[in-house]
Amino acid sequence: MKVAIGNDHAAPQLKLAVVEHLEGQGIECIDLGCAIGEKCDYPVAAARVCECVLSGEASLGILICGTGVGMSLAANKFRGIRAACCSECFSARLTREHNDANVLCFGARVVGEGTALDLVDTFVHTEFSNEERHKRRIGLIEEIENKNL
Ligand code: RB5
Repeated sequence: MKVAIGNDHAAPQLKLAVVEHLEGQGIECIDLGCAIGEKCDYPVAAARVCECVLSGEASLGILICGTGVGMSLAANKFRGIRAACCSECFSARLTREHNDANVLCFGARVVGEGTALDLVDTFVHTEFSNEERHKRRIGLIEEIENKNL
């Protein structure tokens, strides 16, 4: 599995902790975020990660800013991206099982490193349930995208 990861200037250290954690499990990370000491506007990092996921180069994306909210707002402007901003593992699990979310967002000023790594583990190791009712609801999201994006 390859995961694309992006961050703005609020989160370079937490991004590095996530990369080290995932690579320790043999999961390759494509780092598209900014380094310590650099400045980066969150929509720029969000766009890089979403394009990487939509191209198929990465199967999932992770976006970290101060709150996770700006990243999720930007990411959800991409047709085919389902980005979920989570700060606890129940939502991170259910957004994979029910929403087939393909991008996880969280805030470096909201969650500590321990919670962040738990969120990431939950997200990348949970599969979509593939149940008809959830597929139908995702289809309804796609109808909204088709009308409005
Ligand atoms: C940057 O200061 C901050 O606005 C950003 O990291 C994020 O929290 C936006 O949603």
